Amino acid sequence: MSYEPTILGFLCNWCSYAGADLAGVSRLQYPPNIRVIRVMCSGRVDPKFVFEALKIGIDGIIVMGCHPGDCHYLEGNYEAEKKFNMLKKFLTFINLDNRIRLEWVSASEGMRFAEIVSEFTNSIKELGPSPLKEDKDLLDKLEAIEMAADSYRIRALVGRERTIIESENVYGEKVPQDKFDNIFNTAIYDEYMRCRILLSLKKNSKSVKVLASELEIDPSEVLEHILILKGSNSITMGEIEGITPIYEYTMEG
Ligand code: FES
Repeated sequence: MSYEPTILGFLCNWCSYAGADLAGVSRLQYPPNIRVIRVMCSGRVDPKFVFEALKIGIDGIIVMGCHPGDCHYLEGNYEAEKKFNMLKKFLTFINLDNRIRLEWVSASEGMRFAEIVSEFTNSIKELGPSPLKEDKDLLDKLEAIEMAADSYRIRALVGRERTIIESENVYGEKVPQDKFDNIFNTAIYDEYMRCRILLSLKKNSKSVKVLASELEIDPSEVLEHILILKGSNSITMGEIEGITPIYEYTMEG
């Protein structure tokens, strides 16, 4: 029996949901794998919705909204795109980035809706069932991603990207897109690693060396993250084993 993926679609009320409706009344064929959740705007799709869907074993998630310039709330789809790009970057760490998709579909594009759903369903079929259904280690990494995506630093960068790029700062400078991208990519990586360290120390206290082998990164890099986490009182140095400090998670950070 061939594998049938479960696809979740978040469709904006004003364009994509109407496009799906048109596909239905026009009797256009598309796979029945998609379950639709109607949202008022694609910008309403909180990254938490995507994380929850992945955690319960949904194989593919698609967000659909109005074409740029057509959002009923002016810039909701712009916000959706920023959040989506952030999610995609995080999900590359665990090779799940191909399981999410963002598309623009207008109320008159029933055919486009049917084609996108067919193509996305086939691409998920090729990927196979979500590995999150069985891989506990991957679920732990997803938890770190969820925590990192909700951090103040990432939310500030996502929410202020446009202002940072388009408006001048207090020194009269605009930050070029490529420079912003570098800052953003670094922040994404650092927050992910720091959240993995935090969650690991929450389970039990560890040395830098043990964390480095667990995260498969250099001990000097772990130490840099440890110093930042210590500075925010998220962790503390506990006992010393021989000459090796052991770090502990605290509730303060
Ligand atoms: S109302 Fe459709 S994307 Fe905002």
